[in-house]
Amino acid sequence: MRKVILTGDRPTGRLHIGHYVGSLRRRVELQNAGEFDDIFIMIADAQALTDNADNPEKVRENVIEVALDYLSVGLDPSKSNLFVQSAISELTELTFYYMNLVTLARLERNPTVKSEIQMRKFENSIPVGFLTYPISQASDITVFKATHVPVGEDQEPMIEQTREIVRKFNSTYGEVLVEPKIMLSENKACLRLPGTDGKAKMSKSLNNCIYLSDTSEEVRKKVMSMFTDPNHIQISDPGQVEGNTVFTYLDAFIKEDSFEKYLPEYKNLDELKDHYRRGGLGDVKIKKFLFAVLEDELNPIRERRHQYEQDIEGVYKILEQGTNNARKVAEKTLAEVKDAMKINYFDDKELIKAQAEKYKNQ
Ligand code: TRP
Repeated sequence: MRKVILTGDRPTGRLHIGHYVGSLRRRVELQNAGEFDDIFIMIADAQALTDNADNPEKVRENVIEVALDYLSVGLDPSKSNLFVQSAISELTELTFYYMNLVTLARLERNPTVKSEIQMRKFENSIPVGFLTYPISQASDITVFKATHVPVGEDQEPMIEQTREIVRKFNSTYGEVLVEPKIMLSENKACLRLPGTDGKAKMSKSLNNCIYLSDTSEEVRKKVMSMFTDPNHIQISDPGQVEGNTVFTYLDAFIKEDSFEKYLPEYKNLDELKDHYRRGGLGDVKIKKFLFAVLEDELNPIRERRHQYEQDIEGVYKILEQGTNNARKVAEKTLAEVKDAMKINYFDDKELIKAQAEKYKNQ
C-alpha cells in the first residue's frame, strides 16, 4: 500500500519550538528518510478562519510566516508538497458530504474542541464552522488518502474522528477512503512542551513562547528568565528536576554530542540531573547550557529562514506549485467519492441508459 503523509498547521502566528519538537522535526526526518510515496504539508488557512472570521488579515499575513517556518526547518519543496488549504475547493465539497455522517453530539464530545471553546469564551455563540472543523480536518486527511498524520498530541481526537468518518463512509458507500494513523513523538518531553513560564502550553497570548524565528538575543533573554524550581534559591540547595522547565527543554532538545560540545564535565543528562537534585548546581549554569543546546538547533533554521526571506516571491511560487500538485490528487479522490455516492450523473452512462429505458417502456 502507498504510504502518504498529510499534516498541517493553522496560520495564526509564527511557529514556535513547541511545534518544532512536537511535530516539525519529525516531519523533516520522515521526509528525508524517503520512505513515503507522497508528503503533503498544509497551511490550514480555512481552518484558521473558523475562529478568526473577523480577522482575515491576521490569517493572510501568517500564511507566509508559516511557509517560511516550514522551509527554514528543512521541509524541502522537491520532496514535500507545501500547499494552502483554501485554494483546494474539493476540501470544502468533501466536508459537506462528510457532515451527513457525523452527529452533533459526536462533535460536542471532542475534548480538544471543547477546551478551545472554553479558551475562546464562545459560550453560547459557537460558530458552526468552528464546531465542525474536525469534519473538515477529516477531508484534509482523506482527500490525500493519507496513511500517516504526524501531529501534536492535541490533534488525537481529530484523527479518531477521521477514522470514524472513513469507516462510516466505506461501509455506507464502498471502500474508497483510507484510515489514517497518528504519529506522535516518542519523547514525552516533546509531546507538550511547556511555556518558558512553566505553564502547561506555549501560547502567544501568554507570551511564553520561543519562536523559531526569534533572534539569538531574544532566545537568550527568554532562557535566562525561564521558570525553574522556585525552591532552589541558593546554589547549594537541592533542586527539583520534575516540572523544571529548563530540564524539560533539555529532555526535548539534548543531542548525543551536546555535553561533549558545551558541558564536558558531565557525561549525560542523568549526571546533570543528579547533581541538581543533590544541590550545588546553579540555575545560571544549566540555563547557559540549555541556551547553547537550543542555539545549536536554531542557528541553521535561522540561516535558512534568512535566505528564504530574501525571496518571498519564490516562496509564494513554492506554495502555488505545491497547491497545484495537491489539487490534482484532491480532484481524483473527490471523483471517486462522488462515484461511490452515486452523485456522478453525467459520467454515469449506465444511469442515463437505465433511466432512458425506464421511460421508453412506459
Ligand atoms: N488542526 C491543526 C492545527 O491546529 C491544523 C490542521 C488542519 C491539520 N487540518 C489538518 C493537522 C489535518 C493535521 C491534519 O494546527
